[in-house]
Formats: sequence, structure tokens, C-alpha cells
Amino acid sequence: MHGGRDVANDASTVFDVVILGGGSGGYAAALRAAQLGLSVALVEKGELGGTCLHRGCIPTKALLHAAEIADETKEAAEFGVLATFQGIDINGVHKYKDDVIAGLYKGLQGLVASRKVTFIQGEGKLSSQTSVDVNGQRIEGRHIVLATGSVPRSIPGLEIDGNRVISSDHALKLDRIPKSVVILGGGVIGVEFASVWKSFGVEVTIVEALPHLVPLEDENSSKLLERAFRKRGIKFELKARFSGVEYTETGVRVSTENGKQIDADLLLVAIGRGPVSAGLGYEENGVAMDRGYVLVDEYMRTNVPTISAVGDLAPTLQLAHVGFAEGILVAERLAGLKPVPIDYDGVPRVTYSNPEVASVGISEAKAVELYGKDKVVTLKYNLAGNGKSKILKTAGEIKLVQVKDGAVVGVHMVGARMGEQVGEAQLIYNWEALPAEVAQLIHAHPTQSEALGEAHLALAGKPLHAHD
Ligand code: NAI
Repeated sequence: MHGGRDVANDASTVFDVVILGGGSGGYAAALRAAQLGLSVALVEKGELGGTCLHRGCIPTKALLHAAEIADETKEAAEFGVLATFQGIDINGVHKYKDDVIAGLYKGLQGLVASRKVTFIQGEGKLSSQTSVDVNGQRIEGRHIVLATGSVPRSIPGLEIDGNRVISSDHALKLDRIPKSVVILGGGVIGVEFASVWKSFGVEVTIVEALPHLVPLEDENSSKLLERAFRKRGIKFELKARFSGVEYTETGVRVSTENGKQIDADLLLVAIGRGPVSAGLGYEENGVAMDRGYVLVDEYMRTNVPTISAVGDLAPTLQLAHVGFAEGILVAERLAGLKPVPIDYDGVPRVTYSNPEVASVGISEAKAVELYGKDKVVTLKYNLAGNGKSKILKTAGEIKLVQVKDGAVVGVHMVGARMGEQVGEAQLIYNWEALPAEVAQLIHAHPTQSEALGEAHLALAGKPLHAHD
């Protein structure tokens, strides 16, 4: 029995939608499709909730919060509070993290059941353009949604052994706090783990091939993060391409192409995530692919009319909230609604390190490329002028990118809790707000959101707590 229906004994059942993969993209498609009255089967080999809930967003943010508490305890005296930092109880951290996951997992299972989605536990495979085989059974659907997600990637010759050379999956379950770690890749995962481990007392070195950490962000954000990391004692090698790793007596020795060698207990490989599509029958059934990704148009349609793909499996931004949005879009399209395509520049991006990096819209470099140098105006507002940020003792900036005499097309923020400001920033970008319009809106004092308001006041030519 699955979700109250015995699919096995009901060969005539043809679902409106069969979804392969119950992560952010897949379950969002299932919930929305069911809400719209479609019959839905959701096939999942592991745990409902997928990477984000069990091995990604949620557990890493729990670790980052534990790390923040560790830092605040260490720095308590600066605020006149007497506290003694005695260390990290890693089992206690895992318990806290696992409790968060368990609560959300239970809630999600309840949600899926309450929407009458037929949940099928098992490893599914696309068996035709309108069916998925799972547990020796054929599940037919008028439409199929592929949502099998992604896994940590490595490079040829770099074997992730799960012991000394690990991926984020292993790092999240590590039962010890290493003395030192080399992190390969200064992208989102690398930077978030560097932040956690440093707060836990680990000596951290990031090795990044490109000239900056979080290289997809506006260069100003990367530089501010690098400055903050330097202050925190997090080391990083930039323009340093990985060339090899060897095992030493106690750990690993990592070499880079520019001749550096770094010894550490562990190597975390965080050089990106690749799609899960091999051996799942996609190509055999005519689905067009590129390097393992399933190709889609702006409505998440593949080249096969009955098949859509969402989430990390599609070559769009690999973010849980993008997966949700893509899942919802497909469900609405299949239910006959007219959803609008996603503007991927308008998707908020947050790196939850200390300090946080948050952005929406396009970078200054991209704006110059699109509109020309003369047409691009930028403004930086330093958080030093923001009361609440001062209270929190955080440093950082908000940088705005505007098309001259036009809308704000980029908001780039660095500082503690800036991730929480990205909600307003995305309204500004997505509603194509003019600086003067945002300047008109009163921001509560003292909040960090005020910094966003002040930045727009300045851009509109009437700065308050900022120098002209
Ligand atoms: P990433 O693509 O963000 O970063 C990988 C980094 O590794 C890049 O900066 C790249 O230049 C570097 N790199 C690649 N090969 C290298 C080599 N041979 N030597 C040195 N450096 C090398 O991938 P990451 O951080 O693994 O994250 C995977 C996905 O998960 C991303 O798409 C990310 O958006 C998502 N994610 C999102 C989070 C968030 O939104 N807060 C948190 C964690 C992951």
C-alpha cells in the first residue's frame, strides 16, 4: 500500500503525473499538482525531502547556527556578558541538527500524505515516455517529471574515500572535529564549511582555482568576504588549481598547480555537484541530455512532449528554492494554468557563512556587459553607518547596481544576517523598482533592513546617514 492505494493490484491506474525523485523539485511538483486536482505518484529511493532536507541546506544551516553560537560565546565579553567557551560537543551538535531534520521530515511526510499524493518508496527508472518502473512494477503516467537531483562531484584521479578525502555528505556526519582541513573549491559549499569549521576551532585552508572566493558573486562581495575571512584566520589560496593529493601518516598533503603543498587531517572536495541521471533510462527513452543534465526549455519541458525535468537535474541554478519554483511551474502547466517562465537573475542567492553573502539580480560586471559602462551606476552603503549592524558588531556593505536613470538591477550584500534582507532586495529587483520609489518607503529604525533603505536614499540623491 502506498499513500492509501494499492498500486500493485491496480494495473489500470494511470496517474496524471508520475514524478521520479522526491527532493525539493519533485515534491514541490507533487504537492502543487495534487492541489490542482491531478492524481500524482511520487517515487523516491531514499528519503522524501532529498538533498536539501537531509544532506544540504537544512543540516548545513544548523551547523552554521551552532558555529554562530560558538563564536558569540567566545566573544561574549565584548558585549559585557560573562561566558566561558568550553568547546564543541560534536555529538550534541549532530543531535540538534538531526532533530531539526527529523521535525521537518515528519512535517513533509504528513503534508504529502494529506495532499493524497501516492508515495512510492523504491528506486525508479524511466521505462518508456509515459512510465516509471519501480519495485518490479510499472507505474503509468500521462506525464512524467524527472527530478533525480545531483550528487557531489569530483575530478578524475581524485577519489573521495569518505575518510580522509570527503564530500559534503561525509562532512555533515563527521563524528570528530579535525585539527586541520583543506577545502577544495571556494564556492558556496566550500565557504560555508570553512566558516563552520573555523568557528569549531579547525585550521582551514581553501584552495580555489579562480581569482576569488564565491566567484559567481559581484567582485565586491567576494573581496569583502575575503577580507572578513582573513580577519577570522581562514586561509585561502586563490588562482590555485588542484593538482593532487597524497596520504601522509596522519592525513593528507594537497598540491596545487602553482607549486603549493598543504598538509591537513582532511580534504573536503567541494568543486560542484553533478546531475544524477546515469542508468535511469533517460537517454534510452529519447530524452535529450548534455553532460548528464536533462535539457529543458523555459517551461521545464524536455524534447519529449510527455516528459519534464526540474531541480538540480536540469542545467539551471542548483538551489532548493529554484527546484521548488520549477516544480510548481511544471505542475501548473500540466494542470492547464499559464505559469510564467522563471527569471533566474531574480532568484535570491545566499551563502550562509559568517559573514553572510546575499544577492539578487546581476553583478556590476554583467550590467556593464549588458548596458555599457556609461549606463551603469553603482552605490555602496557601508554597514558601519547602520545602527543595528553596529550593535551586532558586523562589518559589510550593500552594493546597488542601477541602470542610469532606471531600475535597480543588482543588490549585493555582505554582513551578518544579510540573508534575511534578500527578501526585500528581490522585490526591488523583480518589481524593477526605481531608487526614488524605494527611498519613499520608510524602513524601521534600528533594523538592518534600514541599510537597504539608506542605500536607496543615497542612490536617489538624498542620503541620510551616509556621506554625500
Ligand atoms: P560551486 O560551483 O559553487 O563552487 C565550486 C568551486 O570549486 C568553484 O569556485 C570552482 O572554481 C572551484 N574549483 C573547481 N575545480 C577546481 C579545481 N580543480 N581546483 C580548485 N578549485 C576548483 O559548487 P559547490 O560549492 O560545490 O556547491 C554545489 C552547488 O550546491 C552549487 O550550485 C550551490 O549553488 C549549491 N549550494 C547552495 C548553497 C546555498 O545556496 N547556500 C549551499 C551549498 C550548496
